[in-house]
Amino acid sequence: LANTFQGEGEPLIASLALSGLAFAANYSMIRWLGPSFIKAGLKGRDMAKVNNKYELPECMGAICAVVYLLVIIIFIPFPFYKDIVVATSGGGNRDVVMNVEYVQKGRLLHKFPHSKLASFLSAIISLQSITLLGIGDDLFDIRWRHKFFIPAFASIPLLVIYFIDFGVTSVVLPTVLQPYVGRELLDLGFLYYGYMAAFCIFSPNSINILAGINGIEVLQSIVIALLLAFNDVLYLVTPYPHPATDSHLFSLYFLLPFLGVSFALLAHNKYPARVFVGDTYCYFAGMIFVVVSILGHFSKTLILLLVPQIFNFVYSVPQLFGLVPCPRHRLPHFNARTGLLEPSVTKWGDKQPHLIIESVLHLLGRLKLLRVKVDNDTGRILETSNFTILNLWLVWRGPLREDRLAWEITAMQTAVGLFGLFIRHRLALLVFRE
Ligand code: UD1
Ligand code: MG
Repeated sequence: LANTFQGEGEPLIASLALSGLAFAANYSMIRWLGPSFIKAGLKGRDMAKVNNKYELPECMGAICAVVYLLVIIIFIPFPFYKDIVVATSGGGNRDVVMNVEYVQKGRLLHKFPHSKLASFLSAIISLQSITLLGIGDDLFDIRWRHKFFIPAFASIPLLVIYFIDFGVTSVVLPTVLQPYVGRELLDLGFLYYGYMAAFCIFSPNSINILAGINGIEVLQSIVIALLLAFNDVLYLVTPYPHPATDSHLFSLYFLLPFLGVSFALLAHNKYPARVFVGDTYCYFAGMIFVVVSILGHFSKTLILLLVPQIFNFVYSVPQLFGLVPCPRHRLPHFNARTGLLEPSVTKWGDKQPHLIIESVLHLLGRLKLLRVKVDNDTGRILETSNFTILNLWLVWRGPLREDRLAWEITAMQTAVGLFGLFIRHRLALLVFRE
């Protein structure tokens, strides 16, 4: 392994080992601390179970985040150890000479990669901020329209470092557009920072609203993290050192411990769940993806992996923006008689939708993109299914058991993600000359 990954195998082995530790630590801490969380009032009822009198610990993402941050802080010296050795001993071996800059006077001046360290630290500050904000949300149940913008604050450390160290704000134009615009690159300037901030807001929230059945938040995050890690490995096993090697190593260092804590959480949160992940985990996961893809310069690849989340968000817009009433919970409805999940619904009753909205609802119903129940006598809409991908899946597939629904959505996420990576690596060559 040490040789395969272009001489950077040693920190990678340390990262793998620490990720194993993160798994073990998180697995046992969730078991030990669950009862304390209940005592502190961080608990919730599982709405899709017959016997839901007992409350389960909520906000286990806080434990994941703390274990993760400790591990990543312990890891900091590893990718820099060569540089640290040179800086403190004056160096001597061949590896070291590469990190050394000869100054005219003949003195050796070591160039420590401060910008690489800055990326690390800014990533950690962003993740710490999102953890604090997530715990705040779990404690106080912040209103949706307020909490939506929470991640924007956590993005500031990232954007500052991006501005100072990279400052690349241009995008490559597709080859067909180049003759019209007259150049290969289009500089977006400050718009690019707006795009990145929007991304920081979108990613954590999109994970949080694809939620409500056992294991789904963790499963989708694990799939996205595995696909991102797979994408990173593709850059590390090239026969010649790829120019983006460093970015992709950076990304792996952040993804591996995340996978460690997430698998431990999944063990407790999978059907039938013994704990809930809380908003902390959803925000934290979403922020991990943003951190690695912005600092690793592959935010477009992440967009391809978030297609189900983007669909779920766009589909949710009517309820998120109040065109259709949005109940506190939109998770699928549990039918206690059959033990299966069915689409949950919004009842219309006396307050009928506006005429335009009514016709759109009917259209969506005809396109099988919504379940619409109409009163046969009056033609009025009685109820419509809630606008989430989980409910839509049940509209298509009929009632399903909770674990079955979670696995089907996970399989879909994996298939869509693999297809996204295929597009990224094959078809992109047709659209963008590399
Ligand atoms: C988001 C969704 C909401 C969904 C909720 C479920 C939007 C705008 N908000 O709200 O529609 O109902 O997530 O997490 O789309 N729960 C279960 N089983 C599970 C997971 C959660 O019953 O497998 C319940 C528990 O009672 C738990 C609660 O959901 O306490 C957690 O909800 P929370 O994460 O606070 O909801 P939001 O993120 O605000
Ligand atoms: Mg939530």
